[in-house]
Amino acid sequence: MRFAFFWFLLLLFCTALFSPVQANPLSQDAARTALGRRLFYDADLSADGSMSCATCHNQKHAFAESNATHMGVTNEEGIRNVPSLANIKDFTTLTWLEQHISRLEDQFFTPLMGHHPVEMGMTSKAVLEQRISSDACYQKLFKQAFPKDSGRITADTIAQAVSAFERTLVSNNSTWDRAQTGHQPLSLRAQEGADIFFKKKKCASCHTGFLLSDQKFHKLTAASPAAIRTPSLRNVAVTAPYLHDGSAPTLEAALQAHKAIELTPQEIEALVTFMQTLTDQIFLHNPAFGLPSEECPL
Ligand code: HEC
Ligand code: HEC
Repeated sequence: MRFAFFWFLLLLFCTALFSPVQANPLSQDAARTALGRRLFYDADLSADGSMSCATCHNQKHAFAESNATHMGVTNEEGIRNVPSLANIKDFTTLTWLEQHISRLEDQFFTPLMGHHPVEMGMTSKAVLEQRISSDACYQKLFKQAFPKDSGRITADTIAQAVSAFERTLVSNNSTWDRAQTGHQPLSLRAQEGADIFFKKKKCASCHTGFLLSDQKFHKLTAASPAAIRTPSLRNVAVTAPYLHDGSAPTLEAALQAHKAIELTPQEIEALVTFMQTLTDQIFLHNPAFGLPSEECPL
């Protein structure tokens, strides 16, 4: 009896000793994600306070948007179409053309401070740090998310938090995914499209794997000036317009840009029906990815 009590005390002691150590990394991850989400939706990240990441990367368009290109804060025209951020953590290179940016933490500074084109138009990291540091809520959130740095608010911890949020943007719940696991059969027309996609026209020689992208760079026509990274086709039905310059208003037009592949109108229709099954409604409506409440959570 006495021994049992001893073991019980020992157990309590060990639980107390080890549990904070184990619980800490998890809660810190969650704190970083929540902070990153708030920053992603915060227009204070742009020079004139008019534009957040979400201005261009809109959840209902799978974190792309419906314009061919999007003007920055100085009214300079955009150059490239806004890509979706669905499953962005699985990409080994970022952006449409090969620019050797592979970490989200590095990419963050392109929209923030880039010049070609100007997007959010911030002129220095110091201005950003000052702005975020002057907010009492951010001071608390950074302490929780970066306890080892005593909540220091720097351009780097800001980039780390936004990247942590971006890595949670996982989309794997489309009609197509449910068909793969046998939960919901595809319509006949969609199945016909899938056969054309994977077998008859070998779209999947480039649009392959979980992302439906080989992540390699191709020229669709001999005349193209630059090789473009094969886009992921997940949620493609909600990311119009298409192609790196937004020049294809519809899926049909995007297919016609593949000059080397001849398709009949029936094949195009079946392919479009198949691509519509790649939409993940759960992703598009997940409140965890949406605009956070303005109230400070701490
Ligand atoms: C003015 C519109 C605009 C704003 C604001 C914007 N982006 Fe983008 N984003 C783009 C465009 C356009 C591209 C493609 C750029 C290219 O390929 O040259 C892009 C590309 C990206 C990519 C690479 C996606 C891929 O498929 O490789 C990531 C990640 C990203 N943006 C994150 C962000 C974050 C984080 C913010 C906020 C700090 C942000 N963006 C703000 C327009 C915008
Ligand atoms: C040789 C590799 C390759 C093959 C094969 C290929 N694609 Fe593409 N696809 C690409 C590239 C690269 C782009 C981007 C081109 C650009 O932006 O200019 C693209 C773009 C697209 C887009 C537009 C997506 C977006 O977000 O802008 C769709 C839709 C598409 N492909 C579907 C298909 C279908 C369907 C097939 C088969 C009939 C196919 N592709 C075959 C490489 C390929």
